[in-house]
Amino acid sequence: MTRTSTPHRESTTATIQGNTIQGKTIQGKEVPESWKTLEHGIRVGRYTDPEFLQLEFDRLWTKVWQVAARVDAVPEPNDFITYEIGDQSVFIVRVDENTVKAYHNVCPHRGTALAEGQGTFPGGHIICPFHGWRWNTEGDNQYILAREEFRGGKLCNSDVALKSLPCVVYAGFVFINFDKDCPSFDDFIAPVKSLMDDLNLKEMRHYWWKSISIPSNWKVAEEAFFETYHVPATHPQLEVKAAEFIFGDEINGEFENYNHHNVDYQTYANGHGRFYAGRATNYQGKVTSQLPGQDPVDAMADRLQLLVDGMDAQVLQEDVDLLRTLKGQPIPEGSSLGGEYIRVLYENAAAKDRPMPKAIPEIIAMWGGEIFLFPNVMILPQAGNAMIYRVRPHESDPHQCTFEIFSTRSLPAAVKPERAEPVFVTDGNDPEQMYQVPRQDLGNLQRIQKGLRSKAIKQIWLASHHEKIILGLHQEIDRFLMDE
Ligand code: FES
Ligand SMILES: [Fe+2]
Repeated sequence: MTRTSTPHRESTTATIQGNTIQGKTIQGKEVPESWKTLEHGIRVGRYTDPEFLQLEFDRLWTKVWQVAARVDAVPEPNDFITYEIGDQSVFIVRVDENTVKAYHNVCPHRGTALAEGQGTFPGGHIICPFHGWRWNTEGDNQYILAREEFRGGKLCNSDVALKSLPCVVYAGFVFINFDKDCPSFDDFIAPVKSLMDDLNLKEMRHYWWKSISIPSNWKVAEEAFFETYHVPATHPQLEVKAAEFIFGDEINGEFENYNHHNVDYQTYANGHGRFYAGRATNYQGKVTSQLPGQDPVDAMADRLQLLVDGMDAQVLQEDVDLLRTLKGQPIPEGSSLGGEYIRVLYENAAAKDRPMPKAIPEIIAMWGGEIFLFPNVMILPQAGNAMIYRVRPHESDPHQCTFEIFSTRSLPAAVKPERAEPVFVTDGNDPEQMYQVPRQDLGNLQRIQKGLRSKAIKQIWLASHHEKIILGLHQEIDRFLMDE
């Protein structure tokens, strides 16, 4: 396919070209060689040095808009969930149907964390477990035992109010920022907003959510999901012919005709990015059967079934069942198998009053692709479904992170969404706990991190096209870390 581009969405500002930090300083000092972002590669100290991790906490995580929760983790008034990043803890609480707030998770009396995990504040009373001070969900203090003993009996409400953070609900996410003087959320999200709006991400509801500790740097983990270049080797079941070429006995020539080779990548201002397959996605009916003479509906359905069985996300069983109803039916003139599949999906959704993405070519081209929200969220949308990843650094160890997978879908109007709660995975290699496709992806991460500690590697190499989003990530991180 010819790669398409949409110039109006291209990055216009914020990325620094070339050797991004040449001549730049950090805290007045020259940037160490091992921390440099190069146009063709990333120096490995960025993945392994504890000092670099600390700098990320000091200059990135304290300044950037970040996803603290999915809104369906707090569906009812007084529901709360905590969010931890580095050594900072915040809790998100739903005040009423239209208001969600974020507070630093600390009691102003003697510092006790007010919330743990996820739950509901009964009656909207936030009560400190140590001495029983109490607040409402607006953050106003409502009770202090022996109040007259504090500050000579002149304690002001503002002395003891909970400290809120900037907080915005958008597209089903609760975004927060630790910096009171942060740039506006609207500016932050602007480069990808129209895509996210047209994908109708605000309608996605909890299906399942898993959380796992991973022995790799947080950027190593997310970069494993920034390209489809890894698909033939890591997910051979999804690229049988290309995988045979990689792993088979007869190796000669170049095999470039694999599905994922057609993927296009874009980077945007503020570090965001996306990839998408455009017209080559098999939702457009471009299906190459793995078996000679196979019925095209079977070929397409068998391929999508691999995603249902391998992830239970993005494509769900009911989607494949609908596709199979097309078997044996003639394709009307001017349509295609992909077109007919989209037709039955949308007819079925309309009959159930279930919200769907906008059915326009640019949005359908995003099915099977990904939107990367800087610094750490990836959204993989489909027809009324989306898989979402979030990665967070470990508080002190650059070789560890927390990886979460949210499988979401829109629901018929009559179905009440369930409250989202995480399942904590104890063994990512256990097929009972983790589906095949993420097991394959996550299985690489420990090996990558191990390799990055080798004395024989100074930098990783980046493909200019397939690994463009990785470069964009590091360039934007540098924009936060480096001195002005
Ligand atoms: S520490 Fe919270 S009431 Fe004392
Ligand atoms: Fe993968």
